[in-house]
Amino acid sequence: MPTARPSLNPGPAPRHSRIVGVGGYRPRRVVPNSEIIGPIDSSDQWIQERSGIKSRRFASEDETIIAMSSSAAKGALAMAGITADQLGCVIVSTVTFMYNTPAAAPILANELGATKAAAFDISAACAGYCHGIALASDMVKSGTSDYVLVVGVERLSDFTDPCDRGTAFIFGDGAGAAIVGPSEVAGIGPTVWGSEGARWDAIVQREPWNEVVAAGRQKPAIVMQGQAVFRWAVWSMAPVAQQAIDAAGITINDLDAFIPHQANMRIIDSMIKTLKLPEGIPVARDIAETANTSAASIPLATERMLREGQAPHGGLALQIGFGAGLVYAAQVIVLP
Ligand code: COA
Repeated sequence: MPTARPSLNPGPAPRHSRIVGVGGYRPRRVVPNSEIIGPIDSSDQWIQERSGIKSRRFASEDETIIAMSSSAAKGALAMAGITADQLGCVIVSTVTFMYNTPAAAPILANELGATKAAAFDISAACAGYCHGIALASDMVKSGTSDYVLVVGVERLSDFTDPCDRGTAFIFGDGAGAAIVGPSEVAGIGPTVWGSEGARWDAIVQREPWNEVVAAGRQKPAIVMQGQAVFRWAVWSMAPVAQQAIDAAGITINDLDAFIPHQANMRIIDSMIKTLKLPEGIPVARDIAETANTSAASIPLATERMLREGQAPHGGLALQIGFGAGLVYAAQVIVLP
């Protein structure tokens, strides 16, 4: 570098980050398995045995991506004890916002009154929330923002083919949110993340939008190679979860909660076994009533565990998201 050139201001000294609030929004309409089974020639028993799902919520017209996000965000802001104008950044993770552009985040920021916030969306499917927490944590630690809102939100019912036996019963709608802010001590452990793009077609929108339009169809559906995804999640994700525990400098016995992506109850049970999670550590099982809400599933499950007293405020939780891409991300966090 030429010596005459002035050096850039390195910014504020690094500091710690933590999640200071979480919130959730569950759509009003409860949809039991009995409403799903007709077109896929299934049964309540089969769905419960194979996935652990008893019911899910489907959003009504007024429960838009923005409306659900806003409600979840307000809950997170209230728990954090801050106002929207203190947000330096709004990150929305979703794969079901109907606009390719603009992103949902600036619209949400405006709706909340976060007038000074940078705002953008990320697309990391069921791992989107953990990706958002990783970004938010780094922003707070480096001083790019003081408070960052991370929202995971989906209207998967808009992208589900009710006649597809492999997916019609799996997906649900909802929004979960978290506020990441500065902390005296480390509250978000290192993120372990990655991707396996060679397997991009394991969970995929059936056809790209241009082909949907060319074929005169109204919208595409998300389809899945169920058994391949199941095996990947069971065999590959437990080691990632263990790496996140190791990176955090703790042991599995130190955990106060395990909050995996709510993909399938059998996947959750297999991960518990492979990880050798000690009995007595609470595990998120929100999937039974909420189904798989992709980016929203971890914050929704977290909000519920705290609200129902299943997990302690201030406790250590391991969270791991994994899904379409294939992509994944995991970190240990201090619960707000
Ligand atoms: N209802 C009733 N029967 C069904 C069915 C349905 N919805 N879907 C498949 N079947 C039947 C098949 O016809 C087959 O019957 P057969 O043995 O008489 O031929 C049998 O069930 C097994 O089919 P298969 O496709 O092998 O099912 P599976 O055991 O793999 O279960 C999933 C299907 C989707 C539940 C399972 O693959 C799964 O959970 N995958 C992971 C999905 C997931 O979590 N995705 C989210 C990741 S982010």
